[in-house]
Amino acid sequence: MLHVEKMGAEDFPFAVQLANTMNWNMTPEDFAFIMELEPDGCFVLFSGDKRLGICTTISLGRLGWIGNLIVKEAYRKEGAGSLLLKHAITYLRRKRAETIGLYAYPHLASFYESHSFKPDIEFLVLQGKAPFYSADAEVRQAERNDIQEIVEFDRQCLDADRKKLLEAIILKAENPCYILPANNGISGYGAAKVYGVTAEVGPLVCSANHKEAAEKLLKAVLSRLNGLHVSVCLPAKEMALINLLRKAGFREDFRVVRMFLGLAPAKNCIYIAESLERG
Ligand SMILES: CC(C)(COP(=O)(O)OP(=O)(O)OC[C@H]1O[C@@H](n2cnc3c(N)ncnc32)[C@H](O)[C@@H]1OP(=O)(O)O)[C@@H](O)C(=O)NCCC(=O)NCCS
Repeated sequence: MLHVEKMGAEDFPFAVQLANTMNWNMTPEDFAFIMELEPDGCFVLFSGDKRLGICTTISLGRLGWIGNLIVKEAYRKEGAGSLLLKHAITYLRRKRAETIGLYAYPHLASFYESHSFKPDIEFLVLQGKAPFYSADAEVRQAERNDIQEIVEFDRQCLDADRKKLLEAIILKAENPCYILPANNGISGYGAAKVYGVTAEVGPLVCSANHKEAAEKLLKAVLSRLNGLHVSVCLPAKEMALINLLRKAGFREDFRVVRMFLGLAPAKNCIYIAESLERG
C-alpha cells in the first residue's frame, strides 16, 4: 500500500541517491536547505516501509513551486508519481498557493498536462566556467540592509513572496549578490549560490527593457564566481544574456518547459531562475 510521509534527515541518503540517478547533483545539504525553507513540504513516498520516491515544494505567497519529483525506475507507470504530485499540490493549496509552477523535461509535459498544468515558456540550462569582467561602476554589492528593498522589488516583478528564500541566499557570506541602484530604489539585482567549486547563478531580476542592466548584473555575479563551474537556467527568449554566456564559453546542457497550474503570474521583467526546484 502506497503512502506519503514528510521527509526527515534520515531520508536524505535515499533522496540524494535517487535524485542523482538523474544527474541532478543533489547533496544532503541541498535537501537540508529546501527542508529548512519548507519543513512540512518535502515528501517521501513509501510502499510499506520501502522508500519509492520523493518530491519537494516551496510556498512563496500566492505562488507555490514543485521540484525533485522522482520515483524509482522499477515502480514507474503505476500511479506513484501522480500520487506524489497530487500530495504536493494539496500541500501547496493548503499554504494558499493560487498558482503552482514547475520545470518539466519536454518529454514529461504531457504527464503534467494530465494533472492540469499548462506549458508556459521554454528555459535553457547552460553550463560553463565563470569568466572575469572588469567592474562596472553602477553595480554594487548588496548589503544586509538592502535585503528589504530587494525582496520588495522581487515581489513587484514576480508577484510572489520570496522573502524567506532570498534572505537564506543573500545572507550566506559565500553567495554573491549585486544590485543596480536607481532613483527610487533599485532597478535590478542578481545573486548566485556557491557550492564549493561549483555555483548556480540566480535569482537575477531586472525591470523589463533594462537589458543592459541585466547584463551588468550577470557580469558582476560571474566575476565573483570566476573560475568556478557554473550553471544558469534562463528563458530561451533572453537572447542578450544567452549570447553573453555563449561568448564566455557556456554550453547548453538541456531544456525545460516552465508549466503552471492556475494563472501564470504576470512577469514583466528580465529573469534568471533561482533553481529548477524553487522556480
Ligand atoms: C515523472 C515521474 C515521477 C512520473 O512517475 P510515475 O510513477 O511513472 O507516474 P505515474 O505512474 O503516475 O504516471 C506516468 C504515466 O503512467 C501512466 N500510468 C499510471 N498508472 C498506470 C498503470 N497502472 N498502467 C499503465 N499506465 C499507467 C500515467 O497515466 C502516466 O501517463 P502519461 O505520462 O502519459 O500522463 C517518473 O517518470 C520519474 O521519476 N522520472 C524520472 C525523474 C524525472 O524526470 N522527474 C521529473 C522532472 S520534470
